[in-house]
Amino acid sequence: MTQTILGIIGGSGIYDMDGLQDPSWVSVDSPWGAPSDAVLTGQMEGVKMAFLPRHGRGHVHSPTTVPYRANIDALKRLGVTDIISISACGSFREEMAPGDFVIVDQFIDRTFAREKSFFGTGCVAHVSLAHPTCPRVSTACATAAQAAGITVHRGGTYLAMEGPQFSSVAESKLYRSWGCDVIGMTNMPEAKLAREAEICYASVAMITDYDSWHPDHGAVDITAIIATLKGNGSKAHDLIARLPALLGADRSPCPHGCDRALDHAIMTAPDK
Ligand code: ADE
Repeated sequence: MTQTILGIIGGSGIYDMDGLQDPSWVSVDSPWGAPSDAVLTGQMEGVKMAFLPRHGRGHVHSPTTVPYRANIDALKRLGVTDIISISACGSFREEMAPGDFVIVDQFIDRTFAREKSFFGTGCVAHVSLAHPTCPRVSTACATAAQAAGITVHRGGTYLAMEGPQFSSVAESKLYRSWGCDVIGMTNMPEAKLAREAEICYASVAMITDYDSWHPDHGAVDITAIIATLKGNGSKAHDLIARLPALLGADRSPCPHGCDRALDHAIMTAPDK
């Protein structure tokens, strides 16, 4: 048994976390550069928590400039065992409406201007991303969302786009034709790096809009997104507050092997 430390990465509209006992913002040094911000540590119901605002307080990092490697490394250095990523997204499905939450389980990565791995020259590793999210943590998120009265969809494919501009109508229709359910700009390479760091990762996507494919909805508009996020933010906090009781303070090895992802992934000879 190890101790659970829940890492919460807050997306647009979520820059702080209430309800923590002994809250303290701590700066973490990383060889991968400076993280997006200091990390807010504390406890909830006897479970250690570490909260990191992905875009930094004041929203100073764009999806492209978020220091993803430093963020995941900082959480790893704090001993985080499980990451719950919260982010805003657009929807490709009529039935996944603004205000609903989706517990994402697959990704299509269309980002192209980000560092995506901790490995490279000197040490080469290829982890599996067949199942990029942890079913155990995802189930806890779905249960917490239901208990909080949120309309939640379990499972969904998230198209990660580079941004910062939103999609054209043609792109939006293309991604729908690929079977994608939601679109956002930040879950990649975050999920890939969490797997390389052997941290369980779940993604909670908060729908703010219908992207640009929907004939009855206009172009994506940041003012409307912020208005929806204001409502979603309190729902997200309610969901997070229920996770410590569901995931518990003690942690067995992940039944899905997320915490052992490197066991059979490293190609480089040990003496190199
Ligand atoms: N974040 C929120 N809505 C989005 C959209 N439609 N596309 C990309 N990222 C988003």
